[in-house]
Order: sequence, then C-alpha cells, then structure tokens
Amino acid sequence: MQNLDWANLGFTVRETRGVIVSRYKDGKWSEPAKESGPLELSPYALALNYANACFEGLKAFRGADGVVRIFRPDENARRLIRSAEFLDMPAPSEEMFIEMCAEYVRWNLDFLPPYGYNASMYLRPVLIGTDKQLNLKSPVEATFVVMGIPAGSYSGAKTLTLVTAVISRDFDRAAPNGTGSYKLAANYAPSFHAYNIAHALGFQELLFLDPATKTKIDEFGSSNFFGIKDGTFVTPLSDSVLPSITNKSLQQVARDLGYKVEKRVVPYEELETFEEVNACGTAVVITPIGTITDKPALKSDTVTRVFQFGEPGVCGPISSKLYKTLRGIQDGTVPDTHGWCYIVE
Ligand code: PLP
Ligand code: COI
Repeated sequence: MQNLDWANLGFTVRETRGVIVSRYKDGKWSEPAKESGPLELSPYALALNYANACFEGLKAFRGADGVVRIFRPDENARRLIRSAEFLDMPAPSEEMFIEMCAEYVRWNLDFLPPYGYNASMYLRPVLIGTDKQLNLKSPVEATFVVMGIPAGSYSGAKTLTLVTAVISRDFDRAAPNGTGSYKLAANYAPSFHAYNIAHALGFQELLFLDPATKTKIDEFGSSNFFGIKDGTFVTPLSDSVLPSITNKSLQQVARDLGYKVEKRVVPYEELETFEEVNACGTAVVITPIGTITDKPALKSDTVTRVFQFGEPGVCGPISSKLYKTLRGIQDGTVPDTHGWCYIVE
C-alpha cells in the first residue's frame, strides 16, 4: 500500500504506476498495454488542433468487505461510445473499455484508497483523435487511454457541506442543438472563464439555464441538478444536459426508498419551491446547495434574487439519505440489488 494521506487526498493528480493505452490504426485497436511516462503526440494531431476528444469519469472503491468495485463502468462505456459517435471517430467496445479500467485498477491497486476514508480511485478514460491532419476531416486514428488518481473530496469541502451557487446568464455551457449532452472535452475549456469569475466572487458552483430561452433549469458546470419537494425527486429533462450516471442511480435509489421521481422540464420559477437542492456527479457524488444567487450578469453589482434551500448550513434529510445509500452500495455496505458494481477482485 502506498504511504498517502488517505484522509486528505483532495482531487490532485498523483501519478500512479502508469496508464493503460490502446491505439486505433488501419481499422483496428492495438492490444491494450501498460505505459509509464508521457504519451507521444504529434503537434499536428487532430485533438490538439480541433478538440476531437471525449472522456469519462468513474470510480473504483475498496469496500468494507475488502472487495474492489468499479461503479457502473458499462454506463460510462456506452456514454463514451455515444460521444465518439457524435464526433465521428473510432471508439473502444464496451468490453474493451471495462477491461482497460479494471486492468488499470489491478495494476495500481496500492494507490486505491483503503475503506474508511471516504476516498476512491477516480478513473479518467480519454479518447483522442491522433491523425496528423489540419483538414477538417474526422479522425481515422485514435488513442484511448485510461488513467486515474486516488481521490477524496473534489472541492476540498467536507462531505455534504453546503455550497453557494450563482446562475450564469452571460455565459452558456451548451448551445441549442449543440454538444451539451455529450461528454466532449470541448464542452469544458470554455466554461473555465465563467467559473473563474464565479469563484472570484465567492461562489463555488455555476448553474446554467437552457441556452435557447433561459427560462428552464439545465445543470451545473460539472454536475446535474436535482431538487426535492413534497417527497419527490425532481430533475430537469433537457437536450443540453449531460446524462449523469450518478443522477440516474440516485433516481433509482430514491424510487427504492419510496420517493416519487420526476424527470421533466423545470421552469426557473420553480426554484423557490424546492426544500433541498443538490449538484450530483461522479466526482462530487452529491453537493448540497445552500443558496442560488441570480444576477443580470456574473460581474453585475445587482442581485436579482437569492433562493435559499432548507435550513441554513444543513444538508437536507432526503438528500443525506440518498447519498448514504448510494455510497453504501459503492462501499459494499448496502446490498447492490441492481447489479451496478463491477467486481475487479
Ligand atoms: N454534468 C456534467 C456537465 C458533468 O461534467 C458531469 C460529470 O461527469 C455530470 C453532469 C455528472 O455525470 P456523472 O454522474 O455521470 O459523473
Ligand atoms: C465527473 O464528475 O466525473 C466529472 O467529469 C466532472 C469533472 C471533474 C469534469
């Protein structure tokens, strides 16, 4: 076992033994191989010039029972394939994706945090177009690499600590009929600027509205939105939102626990009716949102509205229950009745 400060890993890159790589050329993928050190890439590679790149995020856990589980890798595999199809580029099969993730975890097992630190191994599969080409032509060569980091809290905040969010009215994450529902690298770089402004103003999260009309809730910059009211789990239905695997899992957990689930359009005005609001995603799991501030523009001095959820400083009771159940399934302390966990060993 590596000698790491397991309780305070945060989300920083600590390089592990190496990564698992496969390259696509002449119509086929190479045998996945273990590689250490930097990847070689031509400066003319498509991904560097035109962002022909997509990625995934998923986690491996060491359970209370010592078992090593990856959470729903089949879902991530299918989402990567969907992103690659959108980019008209080669993709690994579902089996190859899962096996490369499992192989990465097996090879770097001593970097997998022990049970009891609320930490995991965050896996980052990345698919890039590597053709040396400056024409606007889809890749016929690609590299698929699975890397990872031992990870604790994404934001550095303690679990289930409330954060503040601000609505982004002058920057959109996605375009109407655009790429918001695909996990493309190109969706993220343009959001950093808006995030930097929000962070400088003291907000931790950015909430995006639907880009066409700005009248409906979409999602946060790196996680989905869900609200709780009257014992119902409500999450937006929108073409420009990433289909989150955490959200899908929480919806099922909510149903299993006897709550109603509604996936539907969520008008902006409905914000004031929620008892609990959360951001959810693989990296954060659940981040409870204490307040959402609305302004005409991020840098504007005017505040139009502030929405407050639940009791100040306290994560809502239903959100906490959903969080604990989901984390329990990942840790092997709650029965995995839906067969979500892939057992590595
Ligand atoms: N929305 C965006 C924009 C994301 O980047 C992520 C992170 O993956 C999510 C939602 C959550 O998705 P998942 O739960 O599959 O990690
Ligand atoms: C995730 O939650 O897995 C993400 O991809 C979010 C982020 C770190 C980009």
